[in-house]
Amino acid sequence: LDPQPHLQTAVGPSLFAFPAQSNFSGVQHPLDWVRDAQGRGYRVLLDAAAYVPTHRLSLRQVPADFVAISFYKMFGYPTGVGALLGRHEAMRTLRRRFFGGGTVQFVSVQNRVERRKTGSEGFEDGTPSFLAMPAVCDGIRWWREVNGPATHVRLSQLTADLLARLTMWEDRVVEYGPRDLSARGATVAFNLRRNGLLIPYEEVEASARTVGLAIRGGCFCNPGAAERAFNHAPRRARACLQRGPFSIPRFRTCLQGAAVGALRVSLGIATSDADVARLVDHIAALVG
Ligand SMILES: Cc1ncc(COP(=O)(O)O)c(C=O)c1O
Repeated sequence: LDPQPHLQTAVGPSLFAFPAQSNFSGVQHPLDWVRDAQGRGYRVLLDAAAYVPTHRLSLRQVPADFVAISFYKMFGYPTGVGALLGRHEAMRTLRRRFFGGGTVQFVSVQNRVERRKTGSEGFEDGTPSFLAMPAVCDGIRWWREVNGPATHVRLSQLTADLLARLTMWEDRVVEYGPRDLSARGATVAFNLRRNGLLIPYEEVEASARTVGLAIRGGCFCNPGAAERAFNHAPRRARACLQRGPFSIPRFRTCLQGAAVGALRVSLGIATSDADVARLVDHIAALVG
């Protein structure tokens, strides 16, 4: 997974974007890629949405030009509000080719002229989610009180326990992320097999709901990682995607039972030992 040998020196304005922790496999990419890519002439966007809920991130030590975070992943509420942090100097290099409401100082339609707002305001199209935003301040206060980043010690232990249990089922569990705790977070992606056949992820997701477990199924908004993990032959997948109306079951049938989605368990600040035990019991019941 080390892209650095392939990362050529940038020839023009270039952006290197990567997740500090993958939302698919939980793998944590080295943060020194940031300085490395900058040294090759790139601006760097670090997607820290899955990383900061359990880790402290120093922008002095990791001087990414842009960092994306998502508040509900840190403290559960509010959804729909995140932040894209940008260094002033990096922000000044951005040029927009379009604009939306709230991002201009003035606009004259008849004269076909407008002037953009400066700084971050020039990028915030539309009405911000202002009714939800006060909750962010409360969330950050609470986050400091409970020392959110320190949770990774407890969550590493829980993740290790879960991985150990999954490994015990051998080929009845197909895991997609790193098997040990080096360079991984508390996101665990897998599929289950019964009698040698993959259990459709939707079935596992639905049955988990009945015992109060929220397991996410699908490709987790990361189609690239999913296709690679599921090892789809590109031509075959293309033919299946172009054939008639799309549905997950049809796509699965066309790929002759290959995985078309996975299950993802994200352990977080609210997860207890009992939750993991319930998950393990549920998987045991499914794989038989
Ligand atoms: C690394 C990463 N980036 C981005 C996202 C998407 O964030 P949001 O749900 O706030 O759009 C996720 C969600 O799982 C994620 O883990």
